[in-house]
Amino acid sequence: MLRIGALISGSGTNLTAIIDGCENRRIDGAVVFAGADNPSAAGLTKARARGVETFVVDYRRIIDEISAGALTAPEDFLLEDATTKQRLFSGRTDPADMRRFLVSRAAAEARLLDLIRPYSIDLLVLAGFMRTLTPYFIDRFSPDPLNPRIMNIHPALLPAFPGVDGYGDTWRYGCKVAGCTVHFIDYGEDTGPIIGQRAFDIDEGSSIEVLREKGLQMEWALYPHCIQLFAEGQLKVEETVFRLPSGKSYRRKRVRILPKKA
Ligand code: GAR
Repeated sequence: MLRIGALISGSGTNLTAIIDGCENRRIDGAVVFAGADNPSAAGLTKARARGVETFVVDYRRIIDEISAGALTAPEDFLLEDATTKQRLFSGRTDPADMRRFLVSRAAAEARLLDLIRPYSIDLLVLAGFMRTLTPYFIDRFSPDPLNPRIMNIHPALLPAFPGVDGYGDTWRYGCKVAGCTVHFIDYGEDTGPIIGQRAFDIDEGSSIEVLREKGLQMEWALYPHCIQLFAEGQLKVEETVFRLPSGKSYRRKRVRILPKKA
């Protein structure tokens, strides 16, 4: 049975769908904790009501303490290593801004790692967790890119519309199709290998609220399905290289879905 940890920031409806999936055996697993980056995440109350242990790592407070000089980076944080590996910012970002970001996130992530460690989880699911994890966390919790164990759900058909408002971005752009994506985490923002996607038509005249509601309902089915594929050992990340007609090559880690074991 898979030991699942969840990180949330908001209402926790995906978390609820995952807990339901474990209870009704669509997922061969159990959610052993729900952690949040802010104490007011409504999903914390939902988790506790379902008997799931919770904790908070107050990112806002940690970021403020770092800015005020009241907190420093973890001892094992290497700025150059994190800067080289991260793919959250382009070369145009002010190095001082990037440093502030990476230091404050490493401080928060060190606290997360301390709280997560005792649970000995197999899989960490980000369920509406509105913080990006940096190389500091990823290297310590999920160091092998070919055997990743952090999943995220994103409210758009990646690679379109990464970021904080996938459904809003899809709707404002005038897309005719919307959807959601479950993927493994890598060093970029919503760039990791894709596990599953669901799409639906956007009806003419449909509101953003309807789009969000439809999308969320698809998320509640897609996320448990992808977690169960992980539980069954059906997800294989492969490094693939394609030679393009131009002579250039395209390299990408992709997920192959293996047949279910008998
Ligand atoms: C979901 O739509 C999820 O896809 C999105 O936040 C919502 C959380 O809802 N996640 C992201 O945007 C991550 N970048 P929930 O708290 O009710 O599960």
